[in-house]
Amino acid sequence: MKIFSSVKELQTELKNQGKKTIGFIPTMGALHSGHIALMKQSIKENDLTVASIFVNPTQFNAKSDLDKYPRTMKADSDKLAKAKVDYLFAPTVKEIYPGGTKSKLKVNLKGLDEQLEGAFRPGHFEGVVQVVHRLLDIVKPTRLYMGQKDFQQFTIIAQMIKNLRMKVALVVVPIQRAKDGVALSSRNVRLTKAKRKWAPIIYKSLKSAKRQVGKKPIAELCEETMIALGKPRGYKPEYFSIIDGYTLKEVKEWKDSDYLIAVTAVWAGEVRLIDNMILKQTK
Ligand code: PAF
Repeated sequence: MKIFSSVKELQTELKNQGKKTIGFIPTMGALHSGHIALMKQSIKENDLTVASIFVNPTQFNAKSDLDKYPRTMKADSDKLAKAKVDYLFAPTVKEIYPGGTKSKLKVNLKGLDEQLEGAFRPGHFEGVVQVVHRLLDIVKPTRLYMGQKDFQQFTIIAQMIKNLRMKVALVVVPIQRAKDGVALSSRNVRLTKAKRKWAPIIYKSLKSAKRQVGKKPIAELCEETMIALGKPRGYKPEYFSIIDGYTLKEVKEWKDSDYLIAVTAVWAGEVRLIDNMILKQTK
């Protein structure tokens, strides 16, 4: 695996490879098996696979969250090399934002960034759109791989690609879970033992919601689930909602959407966990 930190050098290398399909996986590092699943799928579907590791400062609301974000470059690059990724792009902030971090990009996100995560993390998706757009502009991949765990994130990126008519196919890879159902996330390493022990409650709540589709009223189900998610010591759910997978708007009646997703965000002590499950998709 070749490692680049310079935009110019990466682009020259990719140009020298001629007409090949490129799969691209943007990450912020702290890689786990969820990321590796994205790499493996890209390797299967493309001639070349490029992964990036860049802890993007513009998508963090709190400086303390940015500072605390795990940085494990050596372990990450070993994992990528083992997975047989062709190129790792690990740029500096200056390389990504040579003109400063203020974004001039205008994308019509159709309000997809306003609810759920957007309501709790103002400006977060603006930063994600800014960095993914910049990275796509650098790598110019055939396919972009993103995880289903960040449901709102990939929906927003899909909208950006559509709105800006970008020539890249977005591939969404299902959530990877630990044996007990906990969605794999770079943040899990920050959970204390006691908090990690209770984390499967999130997956259990999502599965339970799936069993209740069409049975219990949505408002009642969400209310009960919020109470259950707040029971373990130090657990504070921010939201548990049933949404339409296209608009990300809350659904009031089961019959109101044919693409239903349960989404949740829960504070487990100092760590914020998000998860989701497709409840119904008929189209
Ligand atoms: O999901 C992430 O890790 C980040 O939001 C992404 C897509 C790499 C952009 O910084």
